[in-house]
Amino acid sequence: MNIVLGITGSIAAVKAPELITLLRTQGHMVRVVLTQGGAEFITPMACKALSNQPVYVHFEDAHSSQNMDHIELARWADCILIAPASANILAQCAHGLADQLLSTVFLATQAPVWMAPAMNSVMWQHPATQANIKHLTGMGVQWIGPNSGTLACGEVGPGRMSEPEEIVAQIFSADTSEKLKNTNLLITAGCTQEAIDTVRFLSNRSTGKMGLALAQAAAEQGAQVTCILGPTHATIPTGIKVIHVVSAAEMHVAVMKALPHQNWFIGCAAVSDYTPQQYSPHKLKKSENFEAIEMRLTTDILAEVSQHTERPQFVVGFAAETDNLIASAKAKQVQKSCDMMIANTVPTLEGDSDRHTVTVLFKGTEHTYPLTDKLTLARQLIDCIAKHAATEPAIPETV
Ligand code: C5P
Repeated sequence: MNIVLGITGSIAAVKAPELITLLRTQGHMVRVVLTQGGAEFITPMACKALSNQPVYVHFEDAHSSQNMDHIELARWADCILIAPASANILAQCAHGLADQLLSTVFLATQAPVWMAPAMNSVMWQHPATQANIKHLTGMGVQWIGPNSGTLACGEVGPGRMSEPEEIVAQIFSADTSEKLKNTNLLITAGCTQEAIDTVRFLSNRSTGKMGLALAQAAAEQGAQVTCILGPTHATIPTGIKVIHVVSAAEMHVAVMKALPHQNWFIGCAAVSDYTPQQYSPHKLKKSENFEAIEMRLTTDILAEVSQHTERPQFVVGFAAETDNLIASAKAKQVQKSCDMMIANTVPTLEGDSDRHTVTVLFKGTEHTYPLTDKLTLARQLIDCIAKHAATEPAIPETV
């Protein structure tokens, strides 16, 4: 997508480099238009280096021989994003002023416009600003934030620009809604707990956040999502059906029950491979010498789903490893007959559980997605799955 990013005079302009980088990482082309105020917070040189595109501050920049004119710039854009949007640019755009480049591009474009306001909370709440917002909303401008919090001026209240990741996520979720309205997705998420006795269990560190982010990303695009979820403290998104389970055996039963009529299956849960052979209905005592607990293998849910007569058309597995990640993931893809395997490193104990990077393995190809927040990554992965699933033959209905 071609994006004109307007940067205006607010301290939140310091978040612009991250925003430009994030948009470029997702494959978008970014051309920056700075207002005079914006150029006082961030230099045209920095924007040019990060966007690898010409940067515009004055009308002459848009009309110089190597650049396009302001009308062409307005036409080039698939989307205009003004972040941060100051009270001044809101007023200029609301009133159709064309005495500076950014407000002129706004006036000359037919592309969708997004604004992420940033200003002092009294300015934000002022009736003049609120009237401008109402007016711009009537013209079709879409808003991202502002968030509430401590502002650069020391006040606490609404007026903080949304974080770059939120901005990007909001623009692209709105862009893709309903693409998956005929898709039923069954997904497992989180860890499992294998009880040893009434108080002890065997488990792992999976938070469930990646699986829930995938469930949310698919639901945002209209998919009917059923999530079989192990114990978690993560926030559960709205718009998905959740079946809570505790053990691998419960997860297996719930998956098999929900399997008919699913189009996609994503095995994102960190299912315990072993479970104690015996469960003690009382708390084991130290004197009972349970230093060696006998274990047995659990059912491999993913492998069973892949080989089932009611196999969904597209089956995705996850491989989390500390060593030989790609080679092990490839081996698992074959063993478990998955269409796609997503290889991820295991975060360290002190690791960041909110950001993630993965490598997607599909038909001999490998694609690595850079480190980002889990929801942004989940949206990219759902797009990737949708693209590849569309090219796979549908499994004929079993009689
Ligand atoms: O073999 P491993 O546990 O590393 O494989 C990981 C993949 O297999 C994940 O997609 C996980 O959800 C799935 N799995 C499963 N049932 C098990 C073990 C793993 O579905 N019992």
